[in-house]
Amino acid sequence: MKPPLKIAIAGLGTVGAGTLQLLERQAERLAVRAGRPIVVTAVSARNRRADRGANLSAMRWCDDALELAAIPEIDVIVELIGGSDGVARQLVEAALAAKKHVVTANKALMAHHGTQLAKAAEKQGVALAFEAAVAGGIPIIKTLREGLAGNRISRVYGILNGTTNYILTTMRESGREFAEVLAEAQKLGYAEADPSFDIDGVDASHKLAILASVAFGRPVDLAGVYTEGIRHVSRLDIDFAEELGYRIKLLGIARLTENGLEQRVHPCMVKRATPIAAVEGVFNGIVTEGDFVGRVVLEGRGAGAHPTASAVAADLVDIAAGRRIPAFGVPATSLENLPGAPMENHRGAYYIRLMVLDQPGVIADIAAALRDQLVSMESMIQHGRAPGEAVPIVLTTHDTVEAAMQRALDAIAKLGTVLEPPRMIRIEDF
Ligand SMILES: NC(=O)c1ccc[n+]([C@@H]2O[C@H](COP(=O)([O-])OP(=O)(O)OC[C@H]3O[C@@H](n4cnc5c(N)ncnc54)[C@H](OP(=O)(O)O)[C@@H]3O)[C@@H](O)[C@H]2O)c1
Repeated sequence: MKPPLKIAIAGLGTVGAGTLQLLERQAERLAVRAGRPIVVTAVSARNRRADRGANLSAMRWCDDALELAAIPEIDVIVELIGGSDGVARQLVEAALAAKKHVVTANKALMAHHGTQLAKAAEKQGVALAFEAAVAGGIPIIKTLREGLAGNRISRVYGILNGTTNYILTTMRESGREFAEVLAEAQKLGYAEADPSFDIDGVDASHKLAILASVAFGRPVDLAGVYTEGIRHVSRLDIDFAEELGYRIKLLGIARLTENGLEQRVHPCMVKRATPIAAVEGVFNGIVTEGDFVGRVVLEGRGAGAHPTASAVAADLVDIAAGRRIPAFGVPATSLENLPGAPMENHRGAYYIRLMVLDQPGVIADIAAALRDQLVSMESMIQHGRAPGEAVPIVLTTHDTVEAAMQRALDAIAKLGTVLEPPRMIRIEDF
């Protein structure tokens, strides 16, 4: 057997501790698969005394994570600290400069600096691996980059954030409102004390930007991701979605259109019978569409110590075995600057919910606002009547252009009989 692959792990929190445990428990299996042992030689975290659920006695401890990059015998730096800049970025840059391979679970870092880091890794002849950064335990990076290498990908989409999927699933199952379910998710540890990264779609947009880069061979373009979260999704919308045969999911979608590459994260109505609608709770699910293979669906745990460690271990085995694939599937210098498709040009169907005063002429005014923007209505639901009071009305449209839809909504919002800002959710045609 070849000499061991010596690694250093920076960050021993949820993912770092899980990785230590996996490497300890699966040591023999990994050695056989990689053709050599994988040995943790050094570690770094803030608190030296914390229990990490693994034996650290044979490992060198560094208070300063940057020291790891300067240890000559280390082959791989595993960055599990987090954050798009600061220590995580400095460590990864220092490691690449020192010609050490890098494995990271850090989607924020890859979404902000992925292209530049991939170029640095290639220049230095080392690997930059980030399977754990997108959808935790689901091997979507390897699937896209290697398993589907024979295809032209037309669309990749999925549930990329378990916290928001848990909230939407629980709202539907329990009939409770967003704020109440969010508070419960925080108590259960599924949502952070500051949940905005998850519920405002930021985390999903990081992952989508990385996925789009791998799927379409373009530089990571986080700024090009249109992002909307789930704060405005109400129980009423979830109930109406059910009635219409849909589920509401926060999706990340990247697809090639005639206007360029569309990248968007927002709540979507998806038909209940589709595979993505069946991905519930904290699970993630990703669908890719390739010209030769057709549709491929992956589902699994998108976060957590052990699933994420599983992805880190897969990257380590590749490096140990000497398998080198460019970070984004093609050499970083060949990533093509595809134009991004602006959201206002997006074409699709829409669900609109309005709270209106129940009085004659309201529907005619709404229909006129849609007609003026050439938006064609597909269906309308109003339950019961409450003369003189506020009632919900739901409309769905045929395919139309986002900019026209927005103009129609602006006009509708100005009607005296429309009592709350209109709620709009895009309907996807999967
Ligand atoms: N949690 C998940 O399920 C998951 C899934 C996929 C990807 N990720 C990504 O994995 C990365 C780590 O996430 P996590 O959930 O494991 O975070 P975490 O539990 O907060 O752990 C962070 C670790 O980094 C250490 N650390 C912080 N600042 C440091 C510094 N300046 N020098 C050295 N160590 C430092 C902390 O030390 P102490 O423990 O001593 O405080 C802690 O061990 C992030 O990029 C995250 O986005 C996480």
